[in-house]
Amino acid sequence: MPQSFHARSTTRRLRRLALTALVWLSFGAATTGNASELNVYSARHYDSDTALYDAFTAETGIRVNVLQGDSDQLIARIQREGSASPADVLLTVDVARLWRGEESGVLAPVQSELLETRIPANLRHPDGLWFGFSTRARLIYYKPGQVDPATIGTYESLADPAHRGKLCIRSSTNPYNQSLIAAMLAAHGPEATQAWAQGLVANLARSPQGGDTDQLKALAAGECDIAVANHYYYVRLAVSQDPAEREIARQIAVVLPNQDDRGTHINVGGAGLVKNAPNRANAIRFLEYLASDSAQALFAAGNYEFPAVPGIPLTPALQSLEGMRTDPLGASELGRNNAEAVRIADRAGWR
Ligand code: FE2
Repeated sequence: MPQSFHARSTTRRLRRLALTALVWLSFGAATTGNASELNVYSARHYDSDTALYDAFTAETGIRVNVLQGDSDQLIARIQREGSASPADVLLTVDVARLWRGEESGVLAPVQSELLETRIPANLRHPDGLWFGFSTRARLIYYKPGQVDPATIGTYESLADPAHRGKLCIRSSTNPYNQSLIAAMLAAHGPEATQAWAQGLVANLARSPQGGDTDQLKALAAGECDIAVANHYYYVRLAVSQDPAEREIARQIAVVLPNQDDRGTHINVGGAGLVKNAPNRANAIRFLEYLASDSAQALFAAGNYEFPAVPGIPLTPALQSLEGMRTDPLGASELGRNNAEAVRIADRAGWR
């Protein structure tokens, strides 16, 4: 489950639960479709999303009802609700989860010239089952003085025997790592990727534990010399209101992997039309709205992600990453490789 800014605050979490319950109440009347409504099942938990929905309502007059939850739970719920589901749009945060939505049969294809023009082909499903609206990069971090950054310039180098016992990375049960392995599969095939995963496991400083932020904290604390985490976890620490968090970011340095070959591995956050959407036209309008300049800026800024549409200005916190070369691999291929990636991780003993 993705961490949100306010995940640490129990009070705010309770308040959010209360809000979710209230929002859910409004769904009762919405199952049959209403020209002025849209029901979004969202696995995103960012304060800025409210601004996104409000702007859509202001522009179109369509009221947005949001049900928040864990991605897999939302998909299971849509399946359970079947043809009575009020869900119009499924919004989620990782291609492995979009793939699950695709595989579970809850999504329907959308043909939209606007979306096909605005969203690069590698960031959307070839048949329009889902569209990526933001991207996130999986980066390598190190403790300056402990590691020569030239020796960790690629994902491949994470398996280098020179780094035995130095690496912190979270569990392979997390979709971020599954998608990274899926990208390695696309670049190198199954045998080389298996060997890589084994080399990576041999380099672990500790048994995988915690989320991406925990890997960065462990790096700053000296538990490891190399770590892997999505870029926004680092950016959150770097711009945190909490001086202790900024200090963690200050103690570590960033490597943009594979800049000299295929580019850094990226993943997408995105959305798709739900098959039984009662408000289908509103749902497509919402997806198209998400590709607009203003929505792109909001959608990406909520989690310090990169806008999927080219040419949208980056938030100041991201400008140091501007110009990063990214792997052009199709996001849908990451989904297709997911099952094989999980098997490779299991065989390698990557818990
Ligand atoms: Fe995340």
